Amino acid sequence: MNLGLIGCGYIGRAIAGAVKEGKIKGKLQVITALNVSSVQEIAREHGCSYVTSVEEFWDYPMDLVVEAASQEAVKQYLPDALNRGIDAMVMSIGAFADSSFSERVTRLAREKGCSIHLPSGAIGGLDLLAAARQGSLERVMLTTRKPPSSLKQPGDSQEEQDNLQEPRIVFEGSARKAVELYPKNVNVAAALSLAGLGVSETRVKIIADPGVERNIHQVEAEGDFGSFKLIVENLPSPDNPKTSHLASLSGIALLARLCENIKVGN
Ligand SMILES: NC(=O)c1ccc[n+]([C@@H]2O[C@H](COP(=O)([O-])OP(=O)(O)OC[C@H]3O[C@@H](n4cnc5c(N)ncnc54)[C@H](O)[C@@H]3O)[C@@H](O)[C@H]2O)c1
Repeated sequence: MNLGLIGCGYIGRAIAGAVKEGKIKGKLQVITALNVSSVQEIAREHGCSYVTSVEEFWDYPMDLVVEAASQEAVKQYLPDALNRGIDAMVMSIGAFADSSFSERVTRLAREKGCSIHLPSGAIGGLDLLAAARQGSLERVMLTTRKPPSSLKQPGDSQEEQDNLQEPRIVFEGSARKAVELYPKNVNVAAALSLAGLGVSETRVKIIADPGVERNIHQVEAEGDFGSFKLIVENLPSPDNPKTSHLASLSGIALLARLCENIKVGN
């Protein structure tokens, strides 16, 4: 499978590395990113081409576009990919919290006979939600617990963050509102909403907890299947503390699966 990669940060590099190691049985044809020196370095390391503009990107043969860049990049590249009949895997799932964009690209993918693949990223349990949704799914709740420093908002004082002695609920409400107020949680909340009850019905609680060093996500759901609770304690990636290591592993796992001829699990 011919791959085009957008983004040469932590996740992009990890994906390029997995292609080189043969974990992903695809051929990296072209890469692009905003940081030109990284793009050149990765292209040299991986023996593929690099481009620095959106237009040139489409000059290469591609079966699947892999986005590991930003929500802006999703909006720049995804409609073009679909219009060309090319499938896509998107890491910046937060772009789909914008309902009108999400509906537009879903419609386009249907018209063009393409697929948009969204990995679980930094959480799990989406397979359970997909199954539960076939029956009556009644409640989906995400509780995110992070060190206070990573939940600092404009206007919060440093002193207040440093002096927090007990866990404090900083947000409780819909995924739609959580995405608006806490954009750093956008990928996880968006993925959960898409797999389950949507951004209005999915409940989110965000806790600033001075007692934790990891980003902890607890997913709970109830329906006519019964209930489940899943807790993921994420370690940050060594190169980008904002990105959980699990997110890049999840992207690699999905790509590996897409490039395989035998698929295990749903
Ligand atoms: N799905 C999840 O659970 C999950 C988890 C973590 C990160 N992410 C998302 O994955 C994306 C990549 O994460 P990362 O840690 O590798 O980020 P990073 O900051 O380490 O790297 C981003 C890369 O994308 C490139 N880029 C950004 N905007 C671009 C554009 N418009 N066009 C071309 N290139 C562009 C940058 O130049 C850089 O090379 C981010 O959007 C992040 O929010 C998703």
